[in-house]
Amino acid sequence: MSNPTTPPTDKLDWQNIGFQYRDINGYAKYTWTPENGWDEGSLETNPYLNVHMCSTGLNYGQECFEGLKAFRTKDGRIRVFRPHENGKRMNLTAAFGSMPGIPEEIFLEAIKKTVQANLEFVPPYGSGGSLYLRPLLFGSGPMIGLSPAPEFTFIVFGVPVGNYYKDGVKPVDACIIEDFDRSAPLGTGSFKLGGNYAPVFLPTEKAKKQGFPITLHLDSKTHTYVDEFSTSNFVALSNKDGVTTLVTPNGRTILRSVTRISLVEIARDLGWTVEERDVPFSEIEEGKFDEIAACGTAAVITPVKTISRGEKSYNIGSGEQTEIGAGFNALYKQYKAIQNGDVADTKSWMWPA
Ligand code: COI
Repeated sequence: MSNPTTPPTDKLDWQNIGFQYRDINGYAKYTWTPENGWDEGSLETNPYLNVHMCSTGLNYGQECFEGLKAFRTKDGRIRVFRPHENGKRMNLTAAFGSMPGIPEEIFLEAIKKTVQANLEFVPPYGSGGSLYLRPLLFGSGPMIGLSPAPEFTFIVFGVPVGNYYKDGVKPVDACIIEDFDRSAPLGTGSFKLGGNYAPVFLPTEKAKKQGFPITLHLDSKTHTYVDEFSTSNFVALSNKDGVTTLVTPNGRTILRSVTRISLVEIARDLGWTVEERDVPFSEIEEGKFDEIAACGTAAVITPVKTISRGEKSYNIGSGEQTEIGAGFNALYKQYKAIQNGDVADTKSWMWPA
């Protein structure tokens, strides 16, 4: 995977690729059965799958996914950001969803196969883009009763991507989704099950029409604490008496974002205080935070300048800023520098090393 001889294709306009599906050369696919466990896998080219109509993936949503990215360094090497963390998280979700776990060596092999088959789709160094990798695991065999499938499929496909939100790291307006609860107190919110995501299509489309590209969920039980954005986790910064504090929820109902845990580490390295705790919405109403952002593999760091709840809108900072704030910019620069290979990878986050 350190092939510096395959340059990015010149068939894509790398500055404007956005976040959308595109066909690539091929993807890794594995099949699991109770008798044989995971097979040795294959590299496939047809994006259409042959899946049983009675599969649990299609009938009961027995499915989970991950998102991670491969980057090109200045000297042309290609490396993936923290794949071991995504592998661990996929196995936690798989166990919760009665699906077979993926041994780490298969997870990494699948990532490697897919990246290697698509080296020209890893965007150029410095373009801001990456090859977004999407591991998928689902029940593909028939089962009409409420039980796990007799066969599972594990896939890793890739898509060259730029920014998820069209303005990239420019601040956006967010709104609270009031009429839908994303994550029950003892429910599925902390797992990356596909079923957590489709139900937000309707409220997020409604929000987009009202001018809010990004939507935030509160806790389902009391609607008083910040949960997470529909696409990503919530992080906030405050500056007081020369001390910068990063505040982020880390409870039972939210996804353990690999971006969030990485930003927490970078913040600590910068000497900032970190508070991983429940965040009452009243702290936003009272203007306690100087900066707020959404963070995730796809969203990276997306600064938020206002948060609307019903008729009321709360400014984060001036509420009119057009650039990322100084605090998140410091985190963003270091995070990107590690991914792009511009600074030493002292934490061994990039794979292969
Ligand atoms: C990711 O950041 O990888 C995600 O899974 C977000 C997705 C909902 C677009």
